[in-house]
Amino acid sequence: MALMFLTETIRAYRERDPAARSDLEVFLCYPGLHAVAIHGLSSFLWRHKMLTFGRFVSHIGRFLTGIEIHPGAKLGRRLIIDHGLGVVIGETAEIGDDVYIYHQVTLGGTSAQAGKRHPTVGDNVIIGAGAKVLGAISVGEGARIGANAVVVASVPAGTTVVGIPARPVERTGKARFDAYGTPADPCLDPLLQEVDILRNELTELENRISRLARDRIF
Ligand SMILES: CC(C)(COP(=O)(O)OP(=O)(O)OC[C@H]1O[C@@H](n2cnc3c(N)ncnc32)[C@H](O)[C@@H]1OP(=O)(O)O)[C@@H](O)C(=O)NCCC(=O)NCCS
Repeated sequence: MALMFLTETIRAYRERDPAARSDLEVFLCYPGLHAVAIHGLSSFLWRHKMLTFGRFVSHIGRFLTGIEIHPGAKLGRRLIIDHGLGVVIGETAEIGDDVYIYHQVTLGGTSAQAGKRHPTVGDNVIIGAGAKVLGAISVGEGARIGANAVVVASVPAGTTVVGIPARPVERTGKARFDAYGTPADPCLDPLLQEVDILRNELTELENRISRLARDRIF
């Protein structure tokens, strides 16, 4: 089972990170992969009530990778933590499948109270470098969080949010992964979108002129 999770995660790195050139390279050189594998052990210990030992294994993972994942956090399959350094994932954080997280991301709490206090992240979410996602909020499936955003409210599925505090930007509804959060679908190219807008305005003007001519206004 663990081998299957490892293999599919390596495959995910190969498919989604343009810098990943071979399975061996991912296996040896990707701290995000190592951190998730170590989390598998620390989480097992945590769930079997070996709490201090679980924390200790998590601490070793942090020492080796620079990525801190609390053993209580629930991680989905094929999680990619790219570059990884400085990532912090809190105790009650929950992460869906096929999530892509860059370095310096925090899934943190805003309260010192026990209980659910960290975010729930849906499937296929991308979290840009340096983003902070804070509190027991949810990030909907396919959402994208811009680099350095501070997210303090839930993000609807498919929405892209940027800034501090994070707010939606125009382009929404992208459910599939785009490496580095850039649009791969030519229909979403900003220039093509501008051309589409101009074309629609031109058609509208033509229609208005036709209507005016028909009504013999000039
Ligand atoms: C958020 C993101 C996914 C948006 O990508 P997008 O949908 O292509 O959006 P655009 O680039 O067209 O930007 C839309 C608007 O948001 C702004 N914007 C984009 N990213 C932003 C960010 N991180 N912070 C603040 N504003 C941002 C743009 O300036 C633009 O504003 P405008 O409409 O006033 O011109 C992308 O900018 C991003 O931050 N990706 C993360 C990449 C990353 O962390 N890479 C690390 C590699 S090591």
